[in-house]
Amino acid sequence: MELLTSRQLVQAWTRLNRQQGRTIGFVPTMGALHEGHLSLVRRAVAENDLVVASIFVNPTQFGPNEDFNRYPREPERDAQMLQQAGCHALFLPQVEDIYPAGSSTRVTVSDVTEQLCGLFRPGHFQGVATVVAILFNLVMPTRAYFGKKDYQQWVVIRRMVTDLAMDLEIIGMETVRESDGMALSSRNRYLTPQQRQQALAISRGLRAALAAYQSGCREGHELVGLVMKTLEQAGIDRVDYAALHQIDSLAPAVRADAPSVLLVAAHVGGVRLIDNLELTTP
Ligand code: PAF
Repeated sequence: MELLTSRQLVQAWTRLNRQQGRTIGFVPTMGALHEGHLSLVRRAVAENDLVVASIFVNPTQFGPNEDFNRYPREPERDAQMLQQAGCHALFLPQVEDIYPAGSSTRVTVSDVTEQLCGLFRPGHFQGVATVVAILFNLVMPTRAYFGKKDYQQWVVIRRMVTDLAMDLEIIGMETVRESDGMALSSRNRYLTPQQRQQALAISRGLRAALAAYQSGCREGHELVGLVMKTLEQAGIDRVDYAALHQIDSLAPAVRADAPSVLLVAAHVGGVRLIDNLELTTP
């Protein structure tokens, strides 16, 4: 696996491979990789001639009281995992490679960012859209792969790509879960075993709502109520939101008659966790 440690190196790599007509799959990450990231890499390997991943803990998407400083950084372990998954190149930029001196351009996606996580993490999606746009310009991928666990991020990025006429395909992949239902996340490692047990209520609540949906329930407040009840029973008292939205536009939904998604953000032991489940049965 080639290591690309600067803006110049990744641009030269991209130019060479595009000139030779190769398709490039791209998996942007912040590192602390887990099976969810590796599933993206494996799909990218299956669909492209070459795959490049990036690891960059992007400062502009963290708020002042968030976990930027303590976010796990383990590039050597991550590089080994990427290589084993068949990744061809790893872009490991420094802050100046992404935000050169004087950097003052930011990408703002409106509407879809003004709800859910956007309300609780001001500036977060601007940071995400900006870094992803810069990474796309450097890597010029044919396809880019994102996990649908960050559902709103996935919708925001698709919106940006459409609006800015970016010439690539965005692929969203299903959330990878542990056998007990817990969605994989780099932030799970902050949880003590006891907190992890409590956090399981998030996926359990979503599954309870899914079971009701599969039995014919379409009322948003009932589906959300089932999630909230499960969180309350587990003693999770700081819930940023549990809400029903339409899948593509992410417009709030009163009923789940059209394809919908239930989204949750809750805090367990000071760790903010998100999860979601699509309700798309015809
Ligand atoms: O999902 C993530 O890991 C990050 O938000 C991303 C897309 C790599 C941008 O920093």
